[in-house]
Amino acid sequence: MKSNSVKLFTVSVSMVLLSACTAERSEIKQAPIEQKNAEIGDLEKVWPRLDIKVKQDPKIELQVKSLLQQMSLEQKIAQMIQPEIRDITVEDMRKYGFGSYLNGGGSFPTADKKAPASDWINLAEAMYQASIDDSIDGSTIPTMWGTDAVHGHNNVIGATLFPHNIGLGAMNNPALVEQIAAATAKEVMVTGIDWVFAPTVAVVRDDRWGRTYEGYSEDPEIVRSYAASVVKGLQGTVNHDFLGDSRVISTVKHFIGDGGTEKGDDQGDNIASEQALFDLHAQGYVGGLTAGAQSVMASFNSWHGKKNHGSKYLLTDVLKERMGFDGFVVGDWNGHGQVAGCTNESCVQAVNAGLDIFMVPTAAWKPLYHNLIAQVKAGDIELSRIDDAVTRILRVKIRAGLFTKPSPANRLLSGKTEIIGNAQHRDVARQAVRESLVLLKNNDQLLPLSPTQTILVAGDGADNIGKQAGGWSISWQGTGNKNTDFPGATSIYQGIEQVARQAGGQANLSVDGSFTKKPDVAIVVFGEDPYAEGHGDIDNLEYQRGNKRDLALLKRLKAQGIPVVSLFISGRPMWVNAELNASDAFVAAWLPGTEGDGVAQVIMAKADGEVNYPITGKLSFSWPSHRDQTMINRGDSYSENHKPLFTYGYGLGYGDIKNLSNTLDESVDASTNGASPVVLFERAPKTPWRSFISSGKQRQVIESSQQTFGALSVKAIDKVVQEDARLLTFDGSAAASYQLISNFPEDLRAIDEAGSVLVTTIKLIKPPTANVTLAMSCEHDACDAPVDITKQLSAMAIDSWQTVAVDLQCFNNAGADMAKIVSPFTLGTVGKLGIALSAIKLQPKKAVKAHWAIDCP
Ligand code: BGC
Ligand code: BGC
Repeated sequence: MKSNSVKLFTVSVSMVLLSACTAERSEIKQAPIEQKNAEIGDLEKVWPRLDIKVKQDPKIELQVKSLLQQMSLEQKIAQMIQPEIRDITVEDMRKYGFGSYLNGGGSFPTADKKAPASDWINLAEAMYQASIDDSIDGSTIPTMWGTDAVHGHNNVIGATLFPHNIGLGAMNNPALVEQIAAATAKEVMVTGIDWVFAPTVAVVRDDRWGRTYEGYSEDPEIVRSYAASVVKGLQGTVNHDFLGDSRVISTVKHFIGDGGTEKGDDQGDNIASEQALFDLHAQGYVGGLTAGAQSVMASFNSWHGKKNHGSKYLLTDVLKERMGFDGFVVGDWNGHGQVAGCTNESCVQAVNAGLDIFMVPTAAWKPLYHNLIAQVKAGDIELSRIDDAVTRILRVKIRAGLFTKPSPANRLLSGKTEIIGNAQHRDVARQAVRESLVLLKNNDQLLPLSPTQTILVAGDGADNIGKQAGGWSISWQGTGNKNTDFPGATSIYQGIEQVARQAGGQANLSVDGSFTKKPDVAIVVFGEDPYAEGHGDIDNLEYQRGNKRDLALLKRLKAQGIPVVSLFISGRPMWVNAELNASDAFVAAWLPGTEGDGVAQVIMAKADGEVNYPITGKLSFSWPSHRDQTMINRGDSYSENHKPLFTYGYGLGYGDIKNLSNTLDESVDASTNGASPVVLFERAPKTPWRSFISSGKQRQVIESSQQTFGALSVKAIDKVVQEDARLLTFDGSAAASYQLISNFPEDLRAIDEAGSVLVTTIKLIKPPTANVTLAMSCEHDACDAPVDITKQLSAMAIDSWQTVAVDLQCFNNAGADMAKIVSPFTLGTVGKLGIALSAIKLQPKKAVKAHWAIDCP
């Protein structure tokens, strides 16, 4: 679906040459870069002006103006810097007076995941007091703390964790969503925090995306309505209790198109037309901004190859000017560093595009701060742009009462720790759990189960709160948690056990499904293990590909004549035909969160057989009928061979008498899978890959530049077209490598299984003086798999372009784990070497004729 309306043209932007006069400033020299700009396509035709409920108040505007007049450039830039609690101290806050700060997922005060609420409040209070202390920076502007309370206050021990958004989508209940957001706001306020990075309003098109569960639906309808409800729940109602004492600032994220990237790649490229960008991906902003959301987070993704953090068209022309958003735009986690020509330490382009706050966790905040000041002084950023950014930030702070509310430790709800995880909030969560369950199969009306029977509860999800909570639960990835890390929570098993016991039945937990006395029925709770963001990206939707452990369990039980109920925990619809065939009943439970007992309340009847709670959830995502059906969505036109197994809106009720076939197709069509090449580098690294020089330390390469770092220098050169190749010069003074790296582990199994090679086009300039290796590796250098290519390079003619193909089997033999590759290309040596590189691809062997083929035994 290529856009007709978006013309791409090229302008040359001259970049700053930063002098290296302060140690804190980054010393990267930036050459002129090419910047692609989507032309102001159909601004007026596509994007409506929104009827935003929060109107500008002349008194507030005057106050902002007068504050601004008194501020120095340094104070203004400090408002635009958002560091992370692991990388700053309270003394840094006193000295610089940052406008805001955050804690990332799995980041806690005192670095302790069990930190009690009092630790959170103490940090909030100390940071606030330091921010209004003008003894060093002369500023008394209160700071604000932002956190990812994305399904409840999920970084805080004991908090109520609501079902993840995908489950909320299935219940289709905007009023309940508003209550969830209001409860979340309260739990956040107890800890002295002002601001929440939610809701995510991604309209998820390709379910391979690791953030699918953060989205409510594949379709904009629910997303638009929920966005408004969540914003209302978090911020309160405009002209009523807006940003009052039990409310927080909300963030609609990630602007824009995060749910529509190619292949569902996290942080990837969205190539939707401008109209589709609005019709699908903007609808959450229509809902959320209209309801008065005060901040918007820019997305990591690109639109037509250009990173949103650097897009003036999207951030300024569309969002601020056309849609009329007058709050501020916050960046995502060093997202500015991904803009062409930028690094985490320096990015004029993002400010000029309209970014108001840089989320700059890591030590990069300091050079970024100094660089921004220098860039304004050098005239590369207009002061008026800085003033606009600071005006927006101050406007929101005043609207939120930050200048008038007491300090964080003294606010209405601060320290009322009994609110965190209280019974009322857990009731709301439990209702959401009940309403989010979707019944996909119920042959012979097996459900609801009589609680008076003997019930076997099996599967590794049965008594596993971490698994049922998913990512963004205490830790960022949701991994590494035990049931005791969720005080006050119940597992799914605990809920079943309680209902059975009270009714005079019996539930026995047996993870592996073994038993001594044959049960009347088995409930098997299984599904995806927790993940977050790109760590959850996969390349097809097959459940337990290559390891059908749970299927074996289901079959074993069934073979013994025991009726089997499957409770499937997942962050997305998956291809589970085999598991469906092996189950009598099948419920999609999504990621229910801490109130696991809500499940039993629905799947189990009352002692007299009456329905306890009806099952009402309906799919807000189409469910695939084969593993490569990754992108089938509501509104698509289906053919007989290409239709979902269960369409959008599907979900049985207990009154429905409908048996699903037990012989759904379980075969895998290998021909559809993975045969298309994976391009790693073509003119520049292809998303998700970025290039780095490693020599002792690691530094990101600014494409289109010349850079030396340690023993390696990299320069953009021309092979066929402008700057389509890189010249690497290793000077032999130390070990060095040129690497393509992704932020997240990538699953390359499909292309590997297709019998593929890594092909690269190279030109030898100076022959190697020591061994040269080409390696693939996983995160933290795990699964490092080098292949020696010295022999081939030494025999190669100088100065002529040649193709080299290395069988992926060589990397496998050397220990690569193709399921989670972080660097698919690391070219390294300790000696001298001059080499030019152009295309780098993974592609099926049969399609490749290379000058040099490296095979492995
Ligand atoms: C995520 C955001 C989140 C931020 C802060 C990023 O990696 O994309 O959704 O708000 O981190 O933790
Ligand atoms: C943080 C997350 C963040 C992620 C981005 C983690 O270390 O805790 O909040 O989203 O990094 O890569």
